[in-house]
Amino acid sequence: MLKARITGTGAALPDKILTNADLERMVDTSDEWITIRTGIKERRIASDGEFTSTLSVGAARSALEMSGVAADELDLIILGTVTPDFPFPATACIVQQELGAVNAAAFDISAACSGFVYGLSIAEKYIQTGAARNILVIGAEVLSRIVDWTDRNTCILFGDGAGAAIVQASQDEAGLLSTHIFSNGSYWNTLYQPGCGSRNPATKQSTIDERLFFIKMEGNDVFKHAVRAMEEAACAALTANNMTPSDISLFIPHQANRRIIDATTKRLGVPSDKVFLNLHHYGNTSSASIPITLDEANRAGRLKSGDIILLTAFGGGFSYGSALIRW
Ligand code: ACO
Repeated sequence: MLKARITGTGAALPDKILTNADLERMVDTSDEWITIRTGIKERRIASDGEFTSTLSVGAARSALEMSGVAADELDLIILGTVTPDFPFPATACIVQQELGAVNAAAFDISAACSGFVYGLSIAEKYIQTGAARNILVIGAEVLSRIVDWTDRNTCILFGDGAGAAIVQASQDEAGLLSTHIFSNGSYWNTLYQPGCGSRNPATKQSTIDERLFFIKMEGNDVFKHAVRAMEEAACAALTANNMTPSDISLFIPHQANRRIIDATTKRLGVPSDKVFLNLHHYGNTSSASIPITLDEANRAGRLKSGDIILLTAFGGGFSYGSALIRW
C-alpha cells in the first residue's frame, strides 16, 4: 500500500512577543504562577495585517521549499483552525489562491487543538486510496483575537502561529505508520467559543456585553481529560504497530501545558529527553502547536532517518488523536 510521507515542514510565527511580565500588567497574575502552572514564559501575538491565512501561507511556503514540491503540484490543502479569517469561505481557499495552488481542492477542518493530527489522518487516507499524491496539511491560529484579555484563567495560555507539512505518496518504508482520531462530544461545552455561531448569533448583547465572542474554559476538567486522552491515543498508536514506549525516538505532544505533558509522559513511561518542548516560547497555539514543534525539531536535526516519532493531540470537542511516523 502507498505510504503517506512527510517530505517538508514549515512554520510561521508573528514577531511580536508577549511575556509573562507583560501579562502581569494586564491582569492579576504573576510570572511565577504562570510558569509553575503551565511552563509558559512567552507567546507570539499577531500584529495588524497578520491573519490565519497569512501565517498559513508563510508556513506552507517553507514546507513546500523543503519538500521541493511546486504549489501547482498540490492536490489538496487541509487547514485545521478554530480561528479562520472568516466563518466562510474556508481559509484554505485563501491560502490556495495566495500560493497559486491552482490544482488543489482546499478545505478547513474544525478539530481545535487536534486539527493538525486530524488533517494528517485525512491526508493519509487520501494517499492510501490513491485519490491524492501531494497534500499540504496546515494547523494555524490567531487565538489572540478570540482570547478574553480580561480573563486571567485563559489569557495566559494561548498564542498565535502556524505550522505546515507536505505529505506525499511514497513507496518507501518511511512515512505515517498509523493515525488514530477520537472525539468525545459529552464535553463540548468545557472548552468553546459560545458566540457568533448559529446558536448565539452576533448582537451587541451577546457579543460585547455577555462576552460570548471569547474562549470559555473549565481548566481543571480539560486538564484531567487531556492527560487520559493523550495517553489513550498514544497507546492506540503503539498497539496498532506492535511497539512499546521504548521504541519512540521522539515524542511531540500538543504543547498546551507543561504539567499536562509531564503527566502524560510519566504515565506512558517516555523519558523526558525524548520529549520535544517549545511551549515556554509559544504558549498553546492550538492546531498549530504540533506542526510548529515538528518543524522546529526537524530543522534542529532531531529527526533522523528511521526514527519513530509519536505525535499526540487533545483539544476542544473533545477531540484527540495520534500519529506514529517512521521518519
Ligand atoms: N494567575 C494567578 N491566579 C490565577 C490565574 C492566573 N493567571 N488563573 C487562575 N488563577 C487562580 C484561580 O482564580 C484560583 O484562585 P482561587 O483558589 O482563589 O479560586 C487558583 O488560581 C487556582 O485555580 P485553578 O483553576 O484550580 O488552577 P489550576 O491549577 O487548575 O491551573 C490551569 C489552571 C493552568 C488553567 C489548568 O487548569 C490547566 O492547565 N488546564 C488545562 C487547560 C488547557 O491547557 N487548555 C488549553 C486548551 S485544551 C488543550 O490544549 C489541551
